[in-house]
Amino acid sequence: MVQAEALTMAIRKCTLSALVWLLSVSPWVQASPSDIANQGLGENIAPCSSCHGAHGEGNAAAGFPRLAGLGAPYLEAQLDAFASGARGNAVMQPIASALSTDQRSAMATYYSQLPTEGAQASKGQSDNPPDTGAELAEHGRWASDIPACVQCHGPAGVGVGEHFPALAGQPAAYLAGQLRAWRNGKRPGGPMGLMASIAAKLDESDIKPVAQYFAAQSPAPAKGLDHE
Ligand code: HEC
Ligand code: HEC
Repeated sequence: MVQAEALTMAIRKCTLSALVWLLSVSPWVQASPSDIANQGLGENIAPCSSCHGAHGEGNAAAGFPRLAGLGAPYLEAQLDAFASGARGNAVMQPIASALSTDQRSAMATYYSQLPTEGAQASKGQSDNPPDTGAELAEHGRWASDIPACVQCHGPAGVGVGEHFPALAGQPAAYLAGQLRAWRNGKRPGGPMGLMASIAAKLDESDIKPVAQYFAAQSPAPAKGLDHE
């Protein structure tokens, strides 16, 4: 009897140490958000930093958006939308669906807490008269029921709270791509369908200049974060 008990104990111990070992070697269990950001995870998840930059600052030349300092609920909703396919993107879809729900949430929090200092306005991209985009951004076009973008995205598009993402300094091609995605039904409308209905009223002659206008604005430092 005593022997049987000892054996059970031994087996339990083995199972436990096997579990502990498994936890320590398994990247799927152990990887922290910063590991995933900088080293990737397994075969399906390339390091986020390889496209979004070492500090989540984005890559203007390649059109990869900045993630640093955007609201966590916004980022998480985007990752979930990529994972479900509601937001269509051939690059992000496989990455987001390889992450678990918890990992998507953790990545969103991680990037929301990075400061925006690394991000820069994408200068010299505008080949449109500077006023076209600025007019729409700052005043909207009331005749077509288009409110000023800055009403929701903040002065110069620096972003407001957790749900109105910054546009300032994002690559122009990325911003234009998102407006087209809403027009083509490739991206969910977002809170109250606000952006889907605004994008529906824009045409190509609006999209490019307004995207270039915001790309050329300086991203402000993230609120309440003093890392330096
Ligand atoms: C191979 C390049 C690449 C890698 C690696 C990558 N991304 Fe992306 N990411 C993109 C591109 C391109 C877009 C823009 C997609 C679009 O146009 O809708 C994007 C968009 C996003 C967005 C939406 C941003 C917004 O403003 O709406 C989030 C969030 C995001 N990525 C998170 C991540 C995370 C987290 C990782 C790592 C687990 C990651 N990405 C890895 C290329 C990449
Ligand atoms: C009534 C509020 C409102 C107004 C006005 C508004 N937006 Fe938005 N915008 C939003 C919301 C909310 C989101 C986030 C959508 C989501 O969660 O998917 C957004 C997201 C975006 C994005 C995607 C950013 C990213 O990181 O992917 C772009 C681009 C954009 N808006 C451009 C514009 C432009 C250009 C205008 C002016 C013509 C404008 N918005 C006016 C509410 C607004």
